[in-house]
Amino acid sequence: MTLALTIRRWLHLEDVDLLGPPVGLLLRMTGLSARARRNALDVRLERLDLFFPNLPGPFEGYRILFLSDLHINGFPELLPALLRALEQVEADLTVFAGDYHLRFRREWKQTVELMRPIVTAARAPDGVWGVRGNHDVEEVLAPLEELGLKLLHNGAVPFERDGQRLWLAGVDDPYYYRAADLGKALAGVPTGGFVILLAHTPELYRQAAQAGVSLYLCGHTHGGQVRIPGLGPLFLNMRAPRRLGSGLWREGEMIGYTSRGAGSTSVPLRFGCPPEITVVHLWRGKPAEIGNP
Ligand SMILES: [Fe+2]
Repeated sequence: MTLALTIRRWLHLEDVDLLGPPVGLLLRMTGLSARARRNALDVRLERLDLFFPNLPGPFEGYRILFLSDLHINGFPELLPALLRALEQVEADLTVFAGDYHLRFRREWKQTVELMRPIVTAARAPDGVWGVRGNHDVEEVLAPLEELGLKLLHNGAVPFERDGQRLWLAGVDDPYYYRAADLGKALAGVPTGGFVILLAHTPELYRQAAQAGVSLYLCGHTHGGQVRIPGLGPLFLNMRAPRRLGSGLWREGEMIGYTSRGAGSTSVPLRFGCPPEITVVHLWRGKPAEIGNP
């Protein structure tokens, strides 16, 4: 562990919200609070149809419900909107790309209680799986697993249909805890296996493409949360090229998708960047061209 990381963990800098109070004040002064909040509750259900030449045949039409960045204790009013959106979804597998929680350590029990109905509503035949995000303090992890959300800490799990397999790999948080170990996560996957990688951030994009991952699902950026017309997002908080900040992207043969996330950080606030939950449909076929925004 580096000295910087040791100091950060000791000081719990993630508990300090430097941006929230001034942004909240600015929204109140400009009369935009109610609109920002309304936008943050406007959860969109996105559908993706993705094509892979190497998808094992029995997984044709496989549906993955994908959620990220709920930060549910920071904005509990989001829960009914999320549950309404989840009612419309049927999936074979559910995955969460982390940040169930929002920073403050003392509130982790509230996160677990709010996550309980979400995990129940998100149940799928192949299970509910997730990885850790940079806000997910140690205390919240085991209680989330008790709800039925199985966390992948640099590991992989296979799902089988008619004797053929698809692998879900998951890495620990690459951003704050810097605990992602892709080599370890993929160690048990046979060469040529079809792998979906779940990671909190897009930062392992190059490494994952080189390792033969077919689909990379991640979040963390919230798509910027606020997008200025003509300029795009002001902040993405990632160590990766801007084109990986939200939506579909490609790296070599690998397809990636960065979710705009379902929740908000600091204050309930969204402009030009609605919250989302996503259903990914997998198909066999030639991948479509993906433009990089
Ligand atoms: Fe995050």
